Amino acid sequence: MLAFLVGCTDDGSEMQPPPGPQLEVIPAEPQRAGDPVAGRDYLLNGGYITCGIPKSVFDRVFGPQSPGIDGRTGDNATLPINFSAATSAEGVRVVSANCMQCHAGRINGQLILGLGAADADFTGDQAQLVNGAGNLQMSAIEKQEMNRFTDRIRAIAPYTRTLTVGVNPADNLTAALMSHRDPATLAWSNTPAIELPPPLVVPVDVPPWWRMAKKHSMFYSAGGRGDHARIMMAASLLCTDTVAEAQAIDAKFTDVRAYLETIQPPKWPWAVDTALAAEGKQVFEATCSRCHGTYGEGGQYPNHVVPLAEIETDPILAQGASQFGPRYVDWFAKSFWGQVSRLEPAEVYVPPPLDGIWATAPFLHNGSVPTLAALLDSKTRPRQWTRTFDSADYDQAAVGWTFTVAVPHAMEPDEAKRTRIYDTTKFGYGNQGHTFGDALEPEERTAVLEYLKTL
Ligand code: HEC
Ligand code: HEC
Repeated sequence: MLAFLVGCTDDGSEMQPPPGPQLEVIPAEPQRAGDPVAGRDYLLNGGYITCGIPKSVFDRVFGPQSPGIDGRTGDNATLPINFSAATSAEGVRVVSANCMQCHAGRINGQLILGLGAADADFTGDQAQLVNGAGNLQMSAIEKQEMNRFTDRIRAIAPYTRTLTVGVNPADNLTAALMSHRDPATLAWSNTPAIELPPPLVVPVDVPPWWRMAKKHSMFYSAGGRGDHARIMMAASLLCTDTVAEAQAIDAKFTDVRAYLETIQPPKWPWAVDTALAAEGKQVFEATCSRCHGTYGEGGQYPNHVVPLAEIETDPILAQGASQFGPRYVDWFAKSFWGQVSRLEPAEVYVPPPLDGIWATAPFLHNGSVPTLAALLDSKTRPRQWTRTFDSADYDQAAVGWTFTVAVPHAMEPDEAKRTRIYDTTKFGYGNQGHTFGDALEPEERTAVLEYLKTL
């Protein structure tokens, strides 16, 4: 069986990989050059989110914190990694969540910049976080700044609540922010100008940043096209109220994009059976490389997309949920973003580069599968599952999060436990499809798993 899959014929000549429908290729598009060192510094210290809680209030409530990473300077040296200080247009020093709220994650106890935060909790009402702050003592101008921030958080809060800890509402969040902004001027209005997204958040698992070194598009459905630096700064939509301010941030994001492309994935920290991994490589190249490419010396990433009809994973995100809905694509095209970049939704998913895949559990675009072992053998995927959210609770054999089978979401009365259940029967949370590992022999699957640890 193995000999067949690795593509050796009786006479020893190379066989072609298994045939399949021709896959579309996403072409590379020109990107503006940038300086990666300046980009890391701007990402960690730049004021690209310019509304927030007045810093004096933040300091009083939380006190100095450890940033947990090198390279934080000035005010940021005493803020946690997921918060940054900035100066608002009114000249008030404010503190707000930054990119690392979603894009810095822990694995095996270690904080990694660029790894998706698989434990970020968006199940609560974000508005409650700011509601109390109005009663705290602050100056008149600080109060004005606090109100500006509170308005925005209240506007987006109903559209950013997930059912489960760990999945991310960023796509719905972006859609809600577009609803409240004029595309031409970027001016904010508390009343939405275009219809808001449905409050039912489509769950998304945050992808690791190091994939951008290979990818020609952004996002799971390849919906982010054209200039990547411009798209990446979309998180500033929360606070950026003028085109001039957006332009100033955009000028720095060419550096941020350049930095993202230099990030190396973390290495598997435990032992690997190299002989088994070598067998797995052959099975992988015969079964998986058509979509995911090859790795190591001379490795090639083909930048394909796979139609829903072939991949069969949960379709909701690719079918135009949240920011990929027609009214938001139209908003984007007419806005500052549309000058150099495009949102191009399609009913496809990108087979991602698998570098550092071991560290990025849970798997698939919605994070519905806790381990690679379960991804490769679809009948073993748990329908409802839970985990401890301790990043050291890692299953080295199954390659992913240690999980236990749970009851359906609706059957758990305790909210703290319920929000820790991943229920694959919920809208957008499905764990079906991607059955390419199912036909492998168990030994072949074990070999592929060993190989995936080395990427
Ligand atoms: C609220 C959480 C959140 C914040 C804040 C956030 N992101 Fe993301 N980011 C996501 C999610 C979720 C996705 C995947 C969305 C999708 O593909 O549909 C994503 C996708 C990306 C991608 C594309 C990765 C890929 O493989 O296609 C890049 C690059 C990126 N974000 C950069 C940034 C930068 C830079 C910032 C800060 C300016 C930022 N993000 C802020 C959640 C967030
Ligand atoms: C026909 C193309 C195709 C083939 C063949 C294929 N994959 Fe995939 N793979 C995809 C696509 C598309 C996705 C993204 C699906 C999604 O997120 O809904 C994916 C996702 C994955 C993921 C999850 C990535 C993540 O970030 O969660 C892993 C791991 C993976 N594939 C491994 C494999 C392995 C191993 C094989 C061979 C046994 C394989 N794939 C064969 C297209 C393919």
